[in-house]
Amino acid sequence: MPHLELVRADHADALLAFELENREYFAASIPDRGDDYFAEFAARHAQLLQWQVEGTDFFHVLVTDTGRIAGRVNLVEVADGSAELGYRIAQNHAGQGLATAAVAEIRKLAATTYGLTTLRAKATLDNPASHKVLERNGFVATGERVLNGKPAVTYLCELG
Ligand SMILES: CC(C)(COP(=O)(O)OP(=O)(O)OC[C@H]1O[C@@H](n2cnc3c(N)ncnc32)[C@H](O)[C@@H]1OP(=O)(O)O)[C@@H](O)C(=O)NCCC(=O)NCCS
Repeated sequence: MPHLELVRADHADALLAFELENREYFAASIPDRGDDYFAEFAARHAQLLQWQVEGTDFFHVLVTDTGRIAGRVNLVEVADGSAELGYRIAQNHAGQGLATAAVAEIRKLAATTYGLTTLRAKATLDNPASHKVLERNGFVATGERVLNGKPAVTYLCELG
């Protein structure tokens, strides 16, 4: 089964390939990262590593048994025992339960390794797969808001 690894410098090439291969697929559900993201990937990767050192964000890759990156699971805006959860799974691994399993794993890491007590998340209403992933992992809807111009639901998960 794929497992989560904290993002390292040597993940950069595989991560860029993952983002390029799935760019169109992701853009159907969430905003495209934009051309600058790809053009400045190396500098951005270095910035992610720096934020990890500072403890404000923890980025993870979901690595298959063959060493390929199948997804990303991130904890961002870490503060006061809480973080915002984000994730994306490669198109060629969709519908295999990977997001559900990866969010279950990050829940454990959040409580143990990172000492967090709550996770926040949000998903637009037109992304039913993401709602399913969150609700299966104990996230409870807390409200509604507009996200990227679309109606969305906010979620909270109490860890422990
Ligand atoms: C959302 C996403 C992470 C789900 O990843 P995944 O690994 O395919 O998810 P899982 O296989 O764990 O579970 C998805 C569930 O949603 C269901 N699902 C998928 N599309 C659906 C749809 N259109 N309507 C209803 N359910 C749907 C799947 O059938 C599955 O449920 P099942 O196991 O009962 O069959 C993935 O589609 C993705 O990366 N999308 C682009 C980025 C994104 O949207 N990130 C989340 C932002 S909030």
